[in-house]
Amino acid sequence: MVLENKVAVIYGAGGGIGGAVARAFAREGATVFLTGPHRASVDVVADEITAAGGSAVAAEVDATDEQSVDTHLQAVIDTAGHVDISFNAIGIPNASIVGVPLTELEIDQFAKPITTYVMSYFLTARLAARRMIPNRSGVIMTVTALLSRTGLPLVGGYGPAMAAKEALTRNLSAELAPHGIRVVGLRPQGMPETRTIRDAYEPRAKASGMTWEQWQELLASRTHPRRLMTLEEMAHVAAFVASDKASGLTGTTVNLTMGSLDD
Ligand SMILES: NC(=O)c1ccc[n+]([C@@H]2O[C@H](COP(=O)([O-])OP(=O)(O)OC[C@H]3O[C@@H](n4cnc5c(N)ncnc54)[C@H](OP(=O)(O)O)[C@@H]3O)[C@@H](O)[C@H]2O)c1
Repeated sequence: MVLENKVAVIYGAGGGIGGAVARAFAREGATVFLTGPHRASVDVVADEITAAGGSAVAAEVDATDEQSVDTHLQAVIDTAGHVDISFNAIGIPNASIVGVPLTELEIDQFAKPITTYVMSYFLTARLAARRMIPNRSGVIMTVTALLSRTGLPLVGGYGPAMAAKEALTRNLSAELAPHGIRVVGLRPQGMPETRTIRDAYEPRAKASGMTWEQWQELLASRTHPRRLMTLEEMAHVAAFVASDKASGLTGTTVNLTMGSLDD
């Protein structure tokens, strides 16, 4: 188990990616502190992990609120003594941010993903780093999307938000790596088993006269293996990146687009 004795905090742990990462971290021996803005979805993941013999604690935390994140992190330190991994996997509903041409987009709608995603990542990373620096050890992680580096229509401020998170990953690493802290992002291809991808793409499939299955085949045809990634595959990589086996990896975003996006 590559994460034995590690303590991980996951933001957005009730979601598709956060939940899969939480399960993988716990399977690899980490104690996972799971957080989200609504307790119910986080409890489901925590109960699953506990039932499988893992160690998980759920809490209600708004990862865009400094006080909420700071109070929770202090409680983690008080309980577990240290924090080794911070993973920000929060997601806001796509329906509220995509689907409108840039020429028609209101400034608030454009700014929403940028302020929410970038500020939350900054906040959770900064507060974790303050606790990791005295131990000269830690890993800060997040998730972005292919739109950080690919131009697509009707995605509003989402692409700029993903690009900014990847820049922040590099800059955090430049400042924190000398203190023994690695900062690494993951950039998965869309995983159709998640509600995020279905919500974002099913209406577009319909508008183009395609079924959801045909749309998935189209997305899959752009990858080298001609299939889309599973949540479990992404989570395996997350566990490896969070582990000491990846000690040489920092200041970068791991490209998990399976050939859809060249380096
Ligand atoms: N799904 C994919 O295939 C994919 C691929 C590449 C990148 N991404 C990106 O990865 C991120 C997560 O995606 P996902 O599919 O896991 O989304 P998801 O299933 O919708 O999960 C997002 C989670 O974030 C939580 N959340 C929302 N606002 C929060 C806040 N202020 N503080 C703490 N937690 C908050 C949500 O809680 P509630 O539900 O309780 O509100 C939800 O549990 C998104 O940024 C998405 O764009 C996804």
